[in-house]
Amino acid sequence: MNPSSIIAIDGFASTGKSTLAKRLSQHYKIPFIDSGAMYRGITLFAIEKKILKGDNLDRKGLGFALEGIKIKFDFNSGDLFLNGENIAEKIRLPLVSDHVSSIAALSFIRDFLLKQLRQMGQESGLVMDGRDIGTVVFPEADYKFFFNAQPEVRAQRRFEELKAQGQKITFDAVLENLIQRDALDSDRDVAPLRRAYDAIEIDTSERTTDEVFAFLLQKIEAK
Ligand code: DC
Repeated sequence: MNPSSIIAIDGFASTGKSTLAKRLSQHYKIPFIDSGAMYRGITLFAIEKKILKGDNLDRKGLGFALEGIKIKFDFNSGDLFLNGENIAEKIRLPLVSDHVSSIAALSFIRDFLLKQLRQMGQESGLVMDGRDIGTVVFPEADYKFFFNAQPEVRAQRRFEELKAQGQKITFDAVLENLIQRDALDSDRDVAPLRRAYDAIEIDTSERTTDEVFAFLLQKIEAK
């Protein structure tokens, strides 16, 4: 694979996209960018600045505030920085997961991040995961994959992760959040979650990380 290649991984929440994107990035020595983390960063910002209170969003306020936001994904550590603060852990809080899909549905937020995500692809080859990478951000990506898995399997994985982080949450709450996010991400008007026509689809429900990794490598090397 050429080191200036772009690998796009899209799909539903908690299907293993970021884990596999990281593995590919280590294997091919190209940066990994978790685009969902950027949407989570903006959501956290809106919550902390009280621009988003409960379900009430001050859209205009968020629009103005965007000018003062510096959001940076660190290639080496995989951490996300918001105006210099490392927010890698905070963006995984259930409160952020509950609201991120509505923030990500706003066209001015997508425009703001689209520019930054595309810019990263100008600088070098990379592997990026998200919902619209193969369809909108990098429609010309060299390799495109689309991940799917059964909702219960995905919820169980996410539940284990959150439990390991010491968060108090039930399996049912995790499952409900995933189903709600899938619907919001798939039904929004701007850049909805879709498989690009030329993306290779994989169902990760019954596969281990190693098996999915082997599948991706085989497809990349065969191209
Ligand atoms: O990958 P994730 O679950 O951390 O993403 C969080 C949310 O961000 C997801 O529910 C939808 C949104 N997102 C998006 O709309 N477009 C992307 N390219 C990546 C994420």
